[in-house]
Amino acid sequence: MGRRRPVVLGLALWGCLLAGWAAGRSKVNPRIIAAPQGAKEYVLPRSEKYPVFYHKENTSAIYIGGEGKLYYYDFATYENYVEDFPVKNEGQCMMPGSPEDNKNYLTLVEKYGDGMLVCGTGACSPTCWNLTQRKESTPWDGRGIAPFTPDSNTLVVVDGHDIYSTIKKSQQNGKIPRFRRVRGGGELYTSDTVMQNPQFVKATTLRHEEPHQDKIYYFFREDNPDKSPEAPRNISRVAQLCKEDKGGTGSLSASKWTTFLKASLICVDPVTKGNFNWLQDVFFVPASNWRHSKVYGLFTNTWGSSAVCVYSFGDIDNVFRTSKLKGYNGPNPEIKPGQCVSSGQHTPSETFKIADSHPEVQDRVEPLSPTKSPLFHNKHRYQKIGVHEVSAGDGRRYNVLYLATDKGSIHKVVELPEGVQNIMELQVFPKKDPIQSMILDHKRAMLYVGSTDRVLEVPMAMCGVYRNNCDSCLLARDPYCGWLNSSCQSVYLNREVHQNLNLDPWQGKCQKGDIKENDYQNITVVPFSRYYLNCPIESHYATYNWYHNNSLIKTCNTTHPQQDCFHFIQNVSHIHYGHYVCISEEDGFKQALVKERLVNQLRFMSQKGQATMTFASWLQLLLMVVLVELFH
Ligand SMILES: *[C@@H]1O[C@H](CO)[C@@H](O)[C@H](O)[C@H]1NC(C)=O
Ligand SMILES: *[C@@H]1O[C@H](CO)[C@@H](O)[C@H](O)[C@H]1NC(C)=O
Ligand SMILES: *[C@@H]1O[C@H](CO)[C@@H](O)[C@H](O)[C@H]1NC(C)=O
Ligand SMILES: *[C@@H]1O[C@H](CO)[C@@H](O)[C@H](O)[C@H]1NC(C)=O
Ligand SMILES: *[C@@H]1O[C@H](CO)[C@@H](O)[C@H](O)[C@H]1NC(C)=O
Ligand SMILES: *[C@@H]1O[C@H](CO)[C@@H](O)[C@H](O)[C@H]1NC(C)=O
Ligand SMILES: *[C@@H]1O[C@H](CO)[C@@H](O)[C@H](O)[C@H]1NC(C)=O
Ligand SMILES: *[C@@H]1O[C@H](CO)[C@@H](O)[C@H](O)[C@H]1NC(C)=O
Repeated sequence: MGRRRPVVLGLALWGCLLAGWAAGRSKVNPRIIAAPQGAKEYVLPRSEKYPVFYHKENTSAIYIGGEGKLYYYDFATYENYVEDFPVKNEGQCMMPGSPEDNKNYLTLVEKYGDGMLVCGTGACSPTCWNLTQRKESTPWDGRGIAPFTPDSNTLVVVDGHDIYSTIKKSQQNGKIPRFRRVRGGGELYTSDTVMQNPQFVKATTLRHEEPHQDKIYYFFREDNPDKSPEAPRNISRVAQLCKEDKGGTGSLSASKWTTFLKASLICVDPVTKGNFNWLQDVFFVPASNWRHSKVYGLFTNTWGSSAVCVYSFGDIDNVFRTSKLKGYNGPNPEIKPGQCVSSGQHTPSETFKIADSHPEVQDRVEPLSPTKSPLFHNKHRYQKIGVHEVSAGDGRRYNVLYLATDKGSIHKVVELPEGVQNIMELQVFPKKDPIQSMILDHKRAMLYVGSTDRVLEVPMAMCGVYRNNCDSCLLARDPYCGWLNSSCQSVYLNREVHQNLNLDPWQGKCQKGDIKENDYQNITVVPFSRYYLNCPIESHYATYNWYHNNSLIKTCNTTHPQQDCFHFIQNVSHIHYGHYVCISEEDGFKQALVKERLVNQLRFMSQKGQATMTFASWLQLLLMVVLVELFH
């Protein structure tokens, strides 16, 4: 948890967002609310009910699979095309529940071999196409890779020529979800007894030092076998499998995984004992040593709060290798359950029998030491998590978490030495459209955020939101941004920028000259007119004050959601002219947000001379004359 009281500064763009937002004040509320800056948008030719997205790292393009269509858009070149994938054989659906069943919803777009793999429901006849250079192959049977109808409880992992999937192969039977190998190395599936009503979250493969130790890990929720009233109904799990699993030796076990084991994932706040038992999403952060590769687990609880717990694959592996099996007290066979055997060998049937009847290990997987507690938790209901490692100006690396909310926005949370800080709320979709997909391009430092009708390419470094104000730029503690040459710049443009990411006092890093004084905007206002002074509220922890000729004239309290801090002059007279400044103050940090000098039009003109009068000022003068005439 961040020890500093989190504050919010910056650009408030969608007023409607602010209203609902201030209510859920928590320790890790974002500092800044911003619209994406420098973002590019691709609007789909039509809205897609079940879109799937694919983006290849270090490119600027996105593929979107929709109903019978594959959309391609390149954000750099604007190249785009749409490929049709119509239903081949009509009427394969046995019991067409809705007309939608008779369509080909693309459910998978992935890199496969040298080309792409595109699969869809094919009107209850799952079909795949190989796509090379925009040329599609003849369709092939995609059962097990694509579902019969769009389904959310599906995972497909394409790893080289191997494909793993949780999709059932037949429309009628196979009610019990299984984790399968469907391509490469012979078909295998999990025993029906090892998971109880699983809901799959994500899967990955992980290379170990020796190829025969390579593993598949998948994360899921399932019903808790403990039905006591105080026990949570769902339990979050990680399962392991050996990639080179050959299946069993008996006829019943020949097509079953023999290396399956599962363990519970723990995510409990030690202070409140609050249990975050519902795994919502995970993100894998690879490391050169697989043991240090991490899993960022996003959990929610029944009350709608979220927590992020981080695990290492080293710890997960340790639990699977060293823990006793739950409920098994017999002797361990020579090859222990869950152990990968040398290439080409089968797991002995004795080992498989024990593991198959005791698939759960007793020890639970705990978050990383030393705290073994959540990285943070708050009252937002996050849907998706992504983690990007940015190397800051000082050469140190910082992890930045991107958390998609259920309101079309993304929170940017930084892991700083003294804790986590929520630095920004990015309102990606103004209408709060749900975020269907959030893909991180680590190399290009871009986010690809998709909804049912558009995709945005958003730069992770958005230093413009700190509006070239040195204090804002440094106080934000955004590892992507720093101060140099009178502007708030991205570290990707210049690594020499000054930043304030450690606990050093930030004051003093900003020179006097960095804050431009005397930059009042001159505004000519006719006497007897109305005038609004408008100061944008950017932080819900700040006080906003309007000063006129250095005297305080208005204070805005932001505890009640309110869009801006207004000062209204009903009838402008000579005393209303002069200098107006709106200053925000939080944690002793003051910032002038708006500086205006109201000038009497007549005097201003006579100073400047009539020759410089514009058409607009002629109109204003005319209006003034009319007003003066009216009131006399
Ligand atoms: C990313 O792509 C660019 C060209 O588009 C290439 O120059 C660069 O080496 C690539 N970076 C990585 C890390 O692959
Ligand atoms: C599709 O690609 C895979 C892998 O490259 C290949 O094994 C398969 O034969 C291809 N299928 C068709 C119909 O081209
Ligand atoms: C959670 O548990 C309830 C009750 O056992 C069950 O109906 C539901 O399907 C479970 N949900 C998930 C996602 O596992
Ligand atoms: C500072 O900015 C000016 C103008 O924007 C530019 O000409 C100059 O090269 C910049 N200096 C550095 C060190 O980046
Ligand atoms: C406003 O007017 C004053 C006095 O004429 C001048 O010094 C100042 O530069 C002007 N400000 C801007 C932003 O033009
Ligand atoms: C504004 O003030 C002037 C002088 O005090 C007065 O004559 C005029 O009626 C006022 N106008 C309005 C709209 O209140
Ligand atoms: C703002 O709130 C503070 C504390 O809640 C209170 O002391 C102060 O009087 C309020 N100011 C205004 C202008 O409402
Ligand atoms: C503020 O200053 C302006 C000019 O500097 C003057 O015209 C105006 O009367 C002053 N108003 C007050 C309330 O001090």
